[in-house]
Amino acid sequence: MANEPHGGTLVNCELQGNKKKEAIKKAETLPSLTVNPWVVSDIELIGIGGFSPLNGFMGKDDYESVVNNYRLADGTVWTIPITLPVTEDEAEVLNIGDEVALKGEDEIIYGTITLEEKYTYDSKLEAQNVYGTTEDKHPGVQKLYERGNVYLGGPITLLQRPDHGEFYPFYMDPTETRKMFDDLGWETIVGFQTRNPVHRAHEYIQKCALEAVDGLLLNPLVGETKADDIPADVRMESYQTILKYYYPEDRTRLAIYPAAMRYAGPKESVLHAIVRKNFGCTHFIVGRDHAGVGDYYGTYEAQEFISQFEEELGIQVFKFEYAFYCTGCGNMASAKTCPHDKGKHVHLSGTKVRELLRNGERPPKEFSRPEVADILIKGMKQN
Ligand code: ADX
Repeated sequence: MANEPHGGTLVNCELQGNKKKEAIKKAETLPSLTVNPWVVSDIELIGIGGFSPLNGFMGKDDYESVVNNYRLADGTVWTIPITLPVTEDEAEVLNIGDEVALKGEDEIIYGTITLEEKYTYDSKLEAQNVYGTTEDKHPGVQKLYERGNVYLGGPITLLQRPDHGEFYPFYMDPTETRKMFDDLGWETIVGFQTRNPVHRAHEYIQKCALEAVDGLLLNPLVGETKADDIPADVRMESYQTILKYYYPEDRTRLAIYPAAMRYAGPKESVLHAIVRKNFGCTHFIVGRDHAGVGDYYGTYEAQEFISQFEEELGIQVFKFEYAFYCTGCGNMASAKTCPHDKGKHVHLSGTKVRELLRNGERPPKEFSRPEVADILIKGMKQN
């Protein structure tokens, strides 16, 4: 049985059939705003219920409560602001009560917002409380500082889902993943977030989890990531390959998570868990430095942070120690299970792995499955 959505009800802000056609026609006559791909992905996730219980972009009360207390104004756990930033000039010409068309950079109207609030915010405070730093070297903070000074709040309507192109076979909204889990007869489902190819450590923790639950939803984030992350199309090919060769077909499914990556570590681990709960997962994996970047967060900071909300969250968190291949054990292991000294542990930095791949060399098979390495090497050549 799929899990209960966060807040109790799965949000659906999408119109169907004639109502949708009429709304699209009307939207063309409304005042409009051009929004970036990050905002488009938020519109989609709000619209399809991935961000339940949110039904729009946060107003001031929710925003301030999230930034200061990691809860919506009504007390529901929520750790990342979901906001619609605009410049002062853009905000000035819009009036409270207006319905505003939200256009992508491709001119497509993805949705509308009924404008309830315009408010300014303290970007340094948001940076500190959400990302744990005010440094603009942090990729999430950098994006935050590039934004306009005003947030618009109000409920949205989703008029057009973004085109996920070649990922379409792996696109499922929460209603569809929930139905899929029910059809498969899975009572317990572990969700796995990743923005990387699946390496042996990922595979190990997924399979440890899979020993305890009925099914695994491999749910890679395919929205905006930083430039040196491996592109989503290459990753998607690698996921399909590793699943084909190394995972049981009847206990694993692959679906995309079309969100932007915030790199907010601990705070984002909670968002990631909530979204997977909305997709119907009963369990969620938080391993080493979840959603981290550089050395902004401690190895287990996300695990410690999410622990305080665990009971209220309504999704069970599987916390995994730093996993590695140990030549002494002849196996994947962690500090919890391995008696050997560190010299026997196979550790590779991301930089080292990228260097090997760029040179057309496979990382050791203890680090990455050869079939995955070959796809990454091919991908590196093309990009
Ligand atoms: S991210 O989305 O969390 O940034 P990443 O691919 O790095 O993606 O990690 C996916 C998940 O696997 C996260 O929960 C992370 O904590 C966990 N993880 C990654 N590498 C390891 C490892 N070596 N040992 C344990 N957990 C890991």
